Amino acid sequence: MTEMTAPGEPGAEIQIGSFKIADAAQSDTAGMAFVLDQMALRPAVQTLKAWALEQLAPVAGETAVDVGSGTGEDVAAFAELGLRAIGVEPSAGLRAEAVRRWPDSKAEFVDGLSDKLPFDDESVDVVRCERVLQHVDDPAGSVREMARILRPGGRIVLIDTDWQTAIVHPADPEVLQRMVASFLAEAANPYSGRLLRGQLADAGLEIIGESASTWLEPQSGAHQGFVSMMHVRAQQSGAITAAEAEAFAQGIVEAADRGAFHLSLTMYAVSAVKAPVA
Ligand SMILES: C[S@@+](CC[C@H](N)C(=O)[O-])C[C@H]1O[C@@H](n2cnc3c(N)ncnc32)[C@H](O)[C@@H]1O
Repeated sequence: MTEMTAPGEPGAEIQIGSFKIADAAQSDTAGMAFVLDQMALRPAVQTLKAWALEQLAPVAGETAVDVGSGTGEDVAAFAELGLRAIGVEPSAGLRAEAVRRWPDSKAEFVDGLSDKLPFDDESVDVVRCERVLQHVDDPAGSVREMARILRPGGRIVLIDTDWQTAIVHPADPEVLQRMVASFLAEAANPYSGRLLRGQLADAGLEIIGESASTWLEPQSGAHQGFVSMMHVRAQQSGAITAAEAEAFAQGIVEAADRGAFHLSLTMYAVSAVKAPVA
């Protein structure tokens, strides 16, 4: 799934980047870090991060792994609680950014991929993986890999978006349908949110909880952010014309001026445990 990788001030040129690791060479670190920072401010994201921490119940001295750790915020939080905290992040730029951001932390950041984690079998107490599986080609294999490194009694939380839950108003329904279809077609795993529960169960883990949180974009979002990403990208891919993109952009900005713009997107979270040895 592509995500906007530049501030995108009204009128500014918008660069579209990607968190898909195959595209990493073209994605600039500052842009990716900007997007992650914007996301981390959203109440819906904060709600699920807090839920995950509660479900994982980390204990000082345990080992925690965050798969696809981005700028490292969640790894630093584990380190702060006295755990051995390791972020697995394939983007060298984001690993360097995480080290720069958390200089006093004991958090570690290592290279690796979700489907080939650099840890021994059953060597980890806690695993989290947030908004990563939508970008990977083998999400089910990645979850099996996370289950492999988890010790019996170990806990795991997966969080991800389901892009079919995106609602935008106002928009010509037919144009919106083409925009969403083009958006879904280029994502590695756009329906990730709904699949998490089954992926954990299929990996032999016992589900202990689930949650969801809906992102409600503020009115200012009509000028920049996701919505710009959607119509700019749809136009770039040829799914909508320049005139349709402009009409869409104008329609949502006019709606926002009278407080009538709506954009929402739902993220899901599931927690599980690896059965302890009897
Ligand atoms: C949307 S960001 C989420 C970052 C972080 N988990 C957070 O909550 O802010 C997705 C992250 O997944 C990483 N990523 C992409 N493909 C990956 C893979 N196959 N294995 C591990 N991480 C991956 C990206 O480099 C990026 O840091």
